[in-house]
Amino acid sequence: MKIGRLRISKKLLFTTVPVVLLFGGVGAAYAADALPFTDIAGHPAQQAIVNVAARGIIKGYPDGTFRPNDPVTRAQVATFLDRLQTEELTPIAAQRGCPDCHQGPFTLKNEAVNNGGAAAHSGLADGAGESDCLICHAPGTGDREGKGNVAPISLRDIVHPVHMGSKIFLAEFVGNCFSCHNVSGDGTFQVLAQGVDTNDKGVPNTLPIPGAVDPQ
Ligand code: HEC
Ligand code: HEC
Ligand code: HEC
Repeated sequence: MKIGRLRISKKLLFTTVPVVLLFGGVGAAYAADALPFTDIAGHPAQQAIVNVAARGIIKGYPDGTFRPNDPVTRAQVATFLDRLQTEELTPIAAQRGCPDCHQGPFTLKNEAVNNGGAAAHSGLADGAGESDCLICHAPGTGDREGKGNVAPISLRDIVHPVHMGSKIFLAEFVGNCFSCHNVSGDGTFQVLAQGVDTNDKGVPNTLPIPGAVDPQ
């Protein structure tokens, strides 16, 4: 369920999953001939209709029309609200480990370049992982205490607030500490540097967890 491209399709083509999407997004790429209904092209609400149809909240008529200017009935409103609640209550499969979420246009290298600048990150390989970030973003010691060992800031001081303060991470991915960590038997907050093969609840299928590394 969480191997290879399936993971990618779940995140990058998030269109089948509830909520607004960050990774991919429902909005972008509908060519006119790929619209879900035959009578919405050019309508002022076209994109909203496309978005809500992609989530299965509205389904249109059997003849392929949506009839965007028709009034809604009370029964239809009840149906839409019921589907919305079903969507809200549908569990989202857990993602654990940096590459489980960071792939496609959202690789760690791209996150580094886009948020920290190309100059500082030109040496990163496309497939750079968490350990490559720590070459410069490990916690500093001595006169670099509180900073990164080379970079001005440590990786932990970047990723903790960025994720735990993100609605996208918290709501869309149901992200939490265990998206990135395993607490080992001695209480160490190990980092999940590889994507972790888990069941839908996030419980690992392989133990000890491959790629769970002790922090620096
Ligand atoms: C469950 C999914 C998920 C996991 C696992 C995850 N991330 Fe993220 N990450 C996100 C999302 C979503 C964002 C964008 C947050 C936003 O912009 O609201 C993000 C943003 C980032 C950014 C951008 C920082 C910035 O300045 O904006 C970096 C760097 C990053 N993650 C690194 C990591 C590292 C390193 C790991 C593993 C230790 C990791 N992430 C694990 C989902 C995840
Ligand atoms: C060769 C050293 C080096 C490596 C390796 C490196 N970085 Fe950086 N990073 C820097 C430096 C230097 C800065 C500060 C850039 C600036 O201020 O212009 C920085 C800044 C950042 C920032 C912006 C932090 C902020 O203050 O908002 C993010 C995000 C970032 N790096 C992510 C990463 C990620 C993710 C990786 C691993 C994929 C990585 N970096 C690997 C040197 C490095
Ligand atoms: C997006 C991934 C991510 C999330 C989410 C995250 N962490 Fe971390 N955490 C890291 C990374 C990366 C490090 C730094 C690892 C290193 O320096 O080797 C770290 C370091 C730590 C450390 C220091 C471990 C040590 O011994 O030095 C603790 C403790 C910790 N995290 C706790 C938490 C808690 C508690 C939460 C939830 C509230 C959390 N983390 C959420 C990625 C994450």
